[in-house]
Amino acid sequence: MATQRTLSIIKPDAVEGQHIGEILAMIEKAGLRIVEMKMLHLTKPQAEEFYAIHKERPFFGELVEFMTRSPVVVSVLEGEDAVAKYRQVMGATNPAEAEEGTIRKAFAKDVGENSVHGSDSAENAAKEIAFFFG
Ligand code: RTP
Ligand code: MG
Repeated sequence: MATQRTLSIIKPDAVEGQHIGEILAMIEKAGLRIVEMKMLHLTKPQAEEFYAIHKERPFFGELVEFMTRSPVVVSVLEGEDAVAKYRQVMGATNPAEAEEGTIRKAFAKDVGENSVHGSDSAENAAKEIAFFFG
């Protein structure tokens, strides 16, 4: 596997809980390099566009509400097989199913407020990185 890039978002629940530093440490300890980073407060249109793939899902309104509640920390991670590697570091979408040692196991409250986002494919990573970093 070649060097890849993926997009990470530290979500409002984790920012409110003051876990930014611990999450970035877990990312770096996993061997992923942080190559771009910024803190911002998503607007409703931005959150709706970012999660447009879920717009027909019953939880879409809740998801947009949550993602716009507080600032988030957006970063680009680089490394060997970065997309899959970061998904491993994040843990399962539902923290009840997340493995020990993962970010979601450590910090997430439930399937909605689950502390981090990570791109799910190299193709989506490229789109998501362009969305935030042009
Ligand atoms: P993400 O896109 O944020 O990295 O999360 P994911 O791939 O693990 O999960 P995905 O299926 O893409 O869902 C996106 C986000 O929507 C919220 N969600 N809420 N209430 C619910 O049943 C529910 N299901 C999903 C979560 O914030 C999830 O991460
Ligand atoms: Mg997803």
